[in-house]
Amino acid sequence: MAERILTGIKPTGQLTLGNYIGVLKNLPKMMDRGECFIFIADLHALTLPIDPEVLRQNSVDIASFYLAAGLDPKRVALFLQSEVSAHSELNAIMQNYLYMGELSRMTQFKEKSAKIKESGIGLGLFAYPVLMASDIVLYDANIVPVGEDQIQHVELTRDLVNRFNQRYGNVLQMPKAEMRKIGARIMSLSDPTKKMSKSDPKGDIFLKDDMATVRKKVMSAVTDSGSEVKYDEEKKPGISNLLTIYACLKDITIAEAEKHFVDYRYGDFKKEVAQAVVDELEPFQKRYQEIVDSKSYLEVLKEGARKASEVANKTLLRVKKAVGLLISK
Ligand code: TYM
Repeated sequence: MAERILTGIKPTGQLTLGNYIGVLKNLPKMMDRGECFIFIADLHALTLPIDPEVLRQNSVDIASFYLAAGLDPKRVALFLQSEVSAHSELNAIMQNYLYMGELSRMTQFKEKSAKIKESGIGLGLFAYPVLMASDIVLYDANIVPVGEDQIQHVELTRDLVNRFNQRYGNVLQMPKAEMRKIGARIMSLSDPTKKMSKSDPKGDIFLKDDMATVRKKVMSAVTDSGSEVKYDEEKKPGISNLLTIYACLKDITIAEAEKHFVDYRYGDFKKEVAQAVVDELEPFQKRYQEIVDSKSYLEVLKEGARKASEVANKTLLRVKKAVGLLISK
């Protein structure tokens, strides 16, 4: 079977080098493997308080980043989740097939809700994986490229598909998460035991950082004791993270990166990693800026929503029929 690929990015905070290496950089390669549905998870962004103008601007950014990364709008459907109403409609159905117990065990929910008073936790944050599962099954996606932190959500989607299909027959396609072999979890530069995340300005490299800031951040990355540039996640988490970043950007293995740096000391090593990040981000930012200025993303998103709706509405109809909703037209 030809592959169906689906993934999304949530327009909260600033996109990081973690998002770039974990998913964005590899997406153009997916175009050769099958039909791609790539979207901006703007409804998911509403699950925590966000300023309307910031949300709009972040959505423009992500659309432009997708294009700057090399996604060809003629070959993929690139769209806003909120502009394909089937996501919300399927969400309303699927919320009946995932249970409170399993939703409350999700790591992301536990981490995010821990920072908020209980009386202020929105239902959307709790039900986040229901919408995400709906995103995935709507396109009969079998491949879902994500970073490590989203694996648990894709696993829950698989549970949902099993449960739903057992009850109603073979209605939904079983998806599978696909992670990069290396780079599925880029760590914070200031604390390499923590994931690089959109809400950690010190340890992050943001895709919109200027090049002087990028260099400064890499040069001040936390390193480990010793002086050898060797990959050892436990004893040398900082060096291992920088090696991972370098290997991913240069499309080489960790072993090849280690070999390249065999005679290096930490200072020169960091300089070269910083240069690799600059070499990648500088042209990327230039392409991004051209897309933002030309507003070409608008036409792309409109056409993307049209293409995506065609496929999504078919799945929605199939699900409605399966669960017994009467169709009058
Ligand atoms: P989001 O917006 O948090 O992240 C987008 C993608 O980037 C990956 N990622 C990382 N990869 C490597 N290292 C890191 N430090 C790092 N940080 C983030 C994430 O794993 C993700 O793949 N819930 C999703 C958006 C979403 C979605 C979907 C994804 C909504 N519906 C359906 C796939 C399928 C999210 O918030 O990703």
